[in-house]
Amino acid sequence: MLTVRAPATSANLGSGFDVFGAALGHPADVVRVERASETTISVTGAGAEYVPTDPAENTAGVVARELDAPAHIRIDKGVRPSSGLGSSASSAAGAAVALNELYDRGLSDEELVWLAAEGEAVVSGDAHADNVAPSILGGFTVVTDGGITKIDADLPVVVCLPDIVVSTRDARDVVPDSVKMDQLVETVGNASTLVAGMARDDPELVGRGLTDPVVTPARAELVDGYDAVTEAAREAGATGVTISGAGPGVLAVCRHRGQRRDVAAAMVGAFGDAGVDARAYQTEL
Ligand code: HSE
Repeated sequence: MLTVRAPATSANLGSGFDVFGAALGHPADVVRVERASETTISVTGAGAEYVPTDPAENTAGVVARELDAPAHIRIDKGVRPSSGLGSSASSAAGAAVALNELYDRGLSDEELVWLAAEGEAVVSGDAHADNVAPSILGGFTVVTDGGITKIDADLPVVVCLPDIVVSTRDARDVVPDSVKMDQLVETVGNASTLVAGMARDDPELVGRGLTDPVVTPARAELVDGYDAVTEAAREAGATGVTISGAGPGVLAVCRHRGQRRDVAAAMVGAFGDAGVDARAYQTEL
């Protein structure tokens, strides 16, 4: 039996749609594997009832198939599905790391990222690696066709999870097909600012870089109370706020660890005012 902890992640970070991702201190999935003649999957924990146990439909099962590594896979979900915290990616990432070791396949971390992204494709329809990369590598990651760049980050954040469901497929359907040149210029500027901020652990720069004129405004329509929650988090001291991944989670960057409590309370309160139950994780990138 081999056990791997695969952290939840926040992808996009506003200006880095399908490119940026960051591992969160918590929550995490715990994936346990043992060799078997055929792959089986059992799931417990947060939202387990929504996770398919058919290996052909589960991200971890697809990873086992691609790696030719049949196993009994037990997934204890810390990350609720359809949360915007990379739930299916965490299971895929944990399975990739665990099965690589169990079967001594010798794949590099970067090879494991692309393998786990195949598992992700089962759920989202696209093999994008912006969630699996930070879940495997940790830190803040930039994923492009040319490769993966990692920066170790240390920033206090709050992730607020409303009790509504937004599927990744629906959230991708509302993303515009094209952007205008001024939107491109703004996005490049914000993305560059964010990367500089990650390299310096500077919450002001990262908060500024979270702003995105294209994807987040389109997706905000799917998250009841998003504008009020954003405003409340900023008033409580957050330097920047954005939708986490495909939503509905909302990520706020804080200036210091002690500020997270106020920001979390403000976000949960604003969702409550909009008639939406929510919980908040006080964690870090
Ligand atoms: N980058 C992806 C999206 C993350 O925002 O659709 C969700 O898997």
